Amino acid sequence: MRTTAISGTGLYTPPQTITNDELVESFNAYVQAFNQEHVEAIGEGTVEPLQPSSSSFVEKASGIKSRHVVEKSGILDIERMVPNIPERPNEEPSILCEMAVASARDAMRAANKTPDQIDAVIVGCSNLQRPYPAIAIEVQRELGIDGFGFDMNVACSSATFAIQVAADMVACSHARAILAVNPEICTAHLNFRDRDSHFIFGDVSTAAVVESKESCAAMHGFEIVGTKLSTRFSSNVRNNFGFLNRAAPEGIDNPDKLFVQQGRKVFKEVVPLVSDLITTHLAELGYRVADMKRMWLHQANRNMIDLIGRRVWGREPSIEESPVILDEYANTSSAGSIIAFHRFKSDLEVDDLGLICSFGAGYSVGSVVLRKIS
Ligand code: COA
Repeated sequence: MRTTAISGTGLYTPPQTITNDELVESFNAYVQAFNQEHVEAIGEGTVEPLQPSSSSFVEKASGIKSRHVVEKSGILDIERMVPNIPERPNEEPSILCEMAVASARDAMRAANKTPDQIDAVIVGCSNLQRPYPAIAIEVQRELGIDGFGFDMNVACSSATFAIQVAADMVACSHARAILAVNPEICTAHLNFRDRDSHFIFGDVSTAAVVESKESCAAMHGFEIVGTKLSTRFSSNVRNNFGFLNRAAPEGIDNPDKLFVQQGRKVFKEVVPLVSDLITTHLAELGYRVADMKRMWLHQANRNMIDLIGRRVWGREPSIEESPVILDEYANTSSAGSIIAFHRFKSDLEVDDLGLICSFGAGYSVGSVVLRKIS
């Protein structure tokens, strides 16, 4: 079995942004229009009036200040509240492929790898824009990579699960190097009319090159010391969109065909799940928590990041030890922990230990322990 490494990461950030104030202003205009339209029914008590959102709540409850999005105007238009992303002809690369390719090229540059040195592409993300052909095969074609590609979805844990799959394949010599890519257009599955969650998500794509430690010729390479995955069924984060919807057309436009969560319950149940998995994983590898220089956590909620940090370290971790990117990006599903890793890894010294941890719907948790090698 070969020892594996992450030799490069890449990031594609969509140029458009929406601040909390912009989003809340649009949401509140929608609320006002709804309440106006239903003024009589609200007066009769047959319709509940909608409550306004607030920027201060969003920042305090989540830590999010802004988000990057693929398309802004459709989201803020209160007649629409969905990004405006036109269909493309089959002859053109899909938008998910385009984002994936941009981040993949960035990762390949960082890893010092050319397409002929890569044998596979895995696209791991929460929302695939079609069932087939796989987005990964489209990415493979665009990059000119021989070999194979496939898509996988483990919601917010898709990136760490994809890294584990890639590492296993490289370790067993099924491939020399694999691109694990995470294009996320989270805004297209977000219910922007739901006060509890309208502020949660942003769009982005990340990528990582996984190869053997021996072949790694990167400026900032990280040995994959160990991976640990765990899942436990829960409907507290759920999306019922799928191919069977048209077999029950009466439910097609219901809110459950978009992202729905019981945020408070998720917070309470996932924090211990994640903290325990991280401490167990480190112990199984023979490390103490104190050996760890950095933890790149899934970016869903700032309070959650802080609490997991305190539980794992037994003290308040510094912002350098547990970096935060969700203030700028919001929750970008599987890509969040990889953005944090991409941005905050180059200052570590050779032999420093760190850990990427994702968590989310499923529930699912994935941990990847890394040691800097170059
Ligand atoms: N603006 C103003 N007030 C709002 C609001 C909004 N947009 N949304 C909710 N509120 C109100 C609620 O009505 C409630 O009021 P009440 O106390 O009078 O009943 C209060 O704020 C608290 O709401 P709650 O939903 O309990 O907030 P919270 O502190 O749990 O924060 C989340 C909400 C979603 C930010 C938080 O629960 C979370 O991030 N959970 C984890 C999510 C997660 O990790 N999901 C994984 C998916 S990838």
